[in-house]
Formats: sequence, structure tokens, C-alpha cells
Amino acid sequence: MEQAEITKDQYQITIERVEKSRLPEVDFDNIPFGKIFSDHMFTAEYKDGRWQNLRIEPFGEIKYNPAMSALHYGQLIFEGLKAHRSADGGVNLFRHRKNFLRFNRSAHRMAMPALPREVFEVGLLKLLELDRDWVPSGINSSLYIRPFMFATDEYVGIRPSDTYRFIIFTSPVGPYYDHPVKVKVAEKYVRAFKGGTGYAKTAGNYAATLLPAIEVKKEGYDQILWLDGCRFEQVHEIGTMNVFFVIDGKLITPTIETGEILEGITRDSVITLAKDMGIPVEDRIVSIGEVIDAFHSGRLEEAFGAGTAATIAQISEIGYKGERLVLPAIESRKISNKLKAELMGIKRGMKEDRYGWIVKI
Ligand code: COI
Repeated sequence: MEQAEITKDQYQITIERVEKSRLPEVDFDNIPFGKIFSDHMFTAEYKDGRWQNLRIEPFGEIKYNPAMSALHYGQLIFEGLKAHRSADGGVNLFRHRKNFLRFNRSAHRMAMPALPREVFEVGLLKLLELDRDWVPSGINSSLYIRPFMFATDEYVGIRPSDTYRFIIFTSPVGPYYDHPVKVKVAEKYVRAFKGGTGYAKTAGNYAATLLPAIEVKKEGYDQILWLDGCRFEQVHEIGTMNVFFVIDGKLITPTIETGEILEGITRDSVITLAKDMGIPVEDRIVSIGEVIDAFHSGRLEEAFGAGTAATIAQISEIGYKGERLVLPAIESRKISNKLKAELMGIKRGMKEDRYGWIVKI
């Protein structure tokens, strides 16, 4: 797909503000995840080979033809990123350029047009400026940002759409998981395989997780831990986040090199921080066998998930072939607790941002 040209005129964003903010209705002491939406959204349309009609308008319903191709063939990609209230009362946006790059990698895989960085960035920054009061200040809360793009051609046939819509909306959120997570290793379902769409942040990858998640919930688990789609041997990721293990003091995580795993930005941040802290990191193919063996020989010290929504989510239990492996107590987990504190400290401006991860709004 060609990178669309954008002229100076198209940078102009039309802004329509809400008549009355819904902010006073929000109970910031009790914020659920993903159910409250800020006043405005940013939107742009792709038509005639270029992105146009950039605007910020009140968050609200959108109307489409039932034949809209995204509804039928799944040309739909999305991102998740966060802005945090900093200790000095400002707003810190975390690593948005990395999300932008991943967005366009997903777009390429799903035969969708690339989004110019200017559209993503100008739209996002303007939206955050306008709705900055929606960024919560609670220690475990943040503003979750959801950019997404979908195919809008009205055509019932298999071909890439010629038209698309891009939207960013935001949502003040509390924790995605308010308890340590129990995961069950996949035994019959498959999420990804080499050459598939595993690395793309596309709706279908998440839809594939829903039925397995319902099934494992009946056995008391929160999520599924995916294995590779060929042999059910290599650990991939959890339905909602990437996965890390600490074995013999080493931080181990499945590689993204095979193209089957989401290229997590929290994953990347965790690896960067760990290396700087002198923690040995192994970013490689991880077999489920070695994880289970490590548990049985008392060497599996920690396990956790990492994702934008979930941040660093401790794993308390792993279910595998009828066995329930109960992991060491959360308080004993030196490495993940340290990484979590460091990451949160940087996001909230309480620790030095040595990597240029933060943009202040
Ligand atoms: C995210 O972490 O941002 C995601 O998109 C995952 C989803 C479980 C909310």
C-alpha cells in the first residue's frame, strides 16, 4: 500500500466541541476498564487514495451501511496506548510513536493503506489537549487511548476496500486485572502460525481468543496461554498480553522474530528496563516443556503478563494437561515487582525517562 500524501491543508483539523462535558458524571474513584469514554474523538477518512476530512467531534455513534466490508471480512486494525497523570499534575503520553509504527505494520498485513504519521500524531495530540482533564490521577488509573481503522467500502466481495475510516477515542481506566491472573495452556485451539496474522493487532486475533477464554473460565482460569499452532510446543502469548517467566534468575520471553506474536510495547519496555537493571534477559523461542520442568524443579520463580491494558499482570497459576501449577507468592517476586515499579515511575514522571519514552502534553 502506498503511503498517502498529505498536503498542508489536510493538516487542518476541524474541531467541534461538546456542548456540555460528561466529565462531572464520572466517578474517578471507581473507574472500570473500557466502559467510560471521554468527550471527543478524532477521525479521518481515506478516499481517492488520500487521507482527508480530519476532524475532532463529540464522541458518539457512527452510522454505516450493512454491506460495509470491515463487518464481513475483518479489515480492522487497532492500537492501545496510554497517557498518565504525572506526579506534578501534567499529562505524560507513553511511547506513542512505537504504537504508530506497529499500526502501520498491522495495516500492511491486512492490505490497508498506511496512515501518515502526521495524521496519527497531530490527531492524537490535539485530542489529548482537548480532553486532558479526562486523564485520571489515581495511582492505578490512566487514560487508555484506542486508535483504530476499518474498511468502509459498501461491497460484498473479497477484495481490499478502497475506503477506510480512522478513529481515535479515549477512555479513563482503572486496572484491567484487579487480581493475579490464572492461565491455562492451550490444548486444542490455535491463535497463530508462521505466515499468519499473529503479529498484527487485528480484531480477528482477539475474536479467536473469546471461545477458549469462556471455556477456561469454567475451570477457574482467567485466560488462555497460547502455544504455537503446529506442534503445541512453543509458548506464544496470553489472550490479552505477552508473557514473561523468571527461571533461575533469568527473565525469559518468547521471541517476536517468528511473526506469530504481538510485538508488545510493554514487552519491549520490560526487556529494555531489565537489561539496564543488569537482569539477564533471554528473548527466544520458549518451550512449554521447559517452563513446566522449571516449575517441578522449583526453578520457576515468577511469571507475568505484559501489555498496555494489563501493564504487568502477575500470573498466580498455570494449568497444563490437568495439572494446576501454583506459582510462588506475589510478594516474593523481586524481578517483576521491581520492573513494574520502574515502569510506572517513568510513566508517571517520578523516575527519570532515560529512553525518551514520554511526550508531555
Ligand atoms: C492492549 O493491551 O492495549 C490491548 O489491546 C489488549 C486488550 C486486552 C485490551
